[in-house]
Amino acid sequence: MKKLIIICLLALSLINIVKTPMVLAVEIAKGAEVFQVHCVACHARGGNIVRWWKNLKIGTLKKNKLDSIDAIAYLVKNGKSNMSAYQDRLTETEIKAVSAYVLKQAENDWH
Ligand code: HEC
Repeated sequence: MKKLIIICLLALSLINIVKTPMVLAVEIAKGAEVFQVHCVACHARGGNIVRWWKNLKIGTLKKNKLDSIDAIAYLVKNGKSNMSAYQDRLTETEIKAVSAYVLKQAENDWH
């Protein structure tokens, strides 16, 4: 009986280890789609055509304390100066996905 429980627990933890990157990959793919529709006009290749110095490069995000999914999601949700808020246009899930995508792209230097 004890063995069975241990095996079950092991199986469960294995599922968790495999599941996490898969969920993330799906989320990033969804974020890429959202980005192409809603953000690319101003932020193509991580730039910013309105305010070039407020770009989505990792150094800039770090400097502006926007190098976390939550911080980016907050900005996207509520908007900031010339960038409008997206909470009426995107769902919570879409905002989180696009934020995860932005952070990942920034970490990859937008390649
Ligand atoms: C109409 C052009 C426009 C669109 C479309 C737009 N943004 Fe922005 N974005 C801006 C401007 C302008 C700023 C600078 C705001 C400020 O003054 O801090 C900005 C800032 C940002 C920043 C902070 C950058 C920094 O280093 O301070 C992030 C992150 C960001 N946008 C993500 C997004 C995402 C994700 C989307 C799509 C959901 C999006 N933006 C759509 C214009 C736009």
